[in-house]
Amino acid sequence: MGLRFLHCSDIHLLSLRGVGPHRFLNKRLTGGVNLMLKRGKHHDEALFDRMCEHARDRAVDRVVITGDLSNLALEQEFEHIRTKLRAIGVPVTVIPGNHDAYTRGSVRNRRFEQMLDEFMAGERSEGGDYPFVQRYGDVALVGVSTAQASLPMYAVGTVGPEQLERLDGVLERLGAEGLGRIVLIHHPVVPGVSKKRHDLLDIDAFGEVIARRGAELILHGHEHTLLEGTLAGPDSERPVPVHGISSGTNISQHEGRRAAFAIYQVSAASIERELHVWDGEDFRPQPGEAAA
Ligand SMILES: [Fe+2]
Ligand SMILES: [Fe+2]
Repeated sequence: MGLRFLHCSDIHLLSLRGVGPHRFLNKRLTGGVNLMLKRGKHHDEALFDRMCEHARDRAVDRVVITGDLSNLALEQEFEHIRTKLRAIGVPVTVIPGNHDAYTRGSVRNRRFEQMLDEFMAGERSEGGDYPFVQRYGDVALVGVSTAQASLPMYAVGTVGPEQLERLDGVLERLGAEGLGRIVLIHHPVVPGVSKKRHDLLDIDAFGEVIARRGAELILHGHEHTLLEGTLAGPDSERPVPVHGISSGTNISQHEGRRAAFAIYQVSAASIERELHVWDGEDFRPQPGEAAA
């Protein structure tokens, strides 16, 4: 019973192969490409490849990626990402981040959903793609989207009232079934931890849904920093753990920002976590990491 999975986030895989110059007539994209080339110095795809080797070696059931797989949400990037994910050899679950909705066009075309749909298969409530639910024995992954196109220099997100209403119903139903509910969301959900202009705009409304319906664990990315906190749930004795993972490909050696992934062993009754952090050569397990 239960599910053993590797959680990572913000892999920002860089590929401009086959992107014609006409794409960059869009000023937004021109700025974005400059940013992305700078970013290319900070993110290394080799770390993602190494992480995938760990996933195979440690025989996880699944790899879970909480958004920002791309940089500019271009077709060519998503094609590259799809090829990489198919090659892992372990089933994958993804949700989008703000970079996966970089332009209004990519949102209008549902590019992320169209091109990576195989990694988001699951139950859906009437009225929208999100949240989707994937069940594994007594555990359910609940994939939420906060992705929206923001103004340049902004990286905000929104769940939106309609998705929040569906999420409320989903968490109530799965809770009544006694499943371990793992909510996947790109933006941090503990108030005050995001940098300015990086926020989840309806963070309070999200917190109200969790306070009403509960969840066993919430996983996020976005800040490229290791974060840990809790949200209030329906049982005041049992706050809901919230874990933010740093970028999976960041070569930074700044404490807290170094690349990392976590391996979770989850059932309806328990959650165990092992954190692995990049030390410049490999991902190493952190001593003393155990139950979440
Ligand atoms: Fe990111
Ligand atoms: Fe992000």
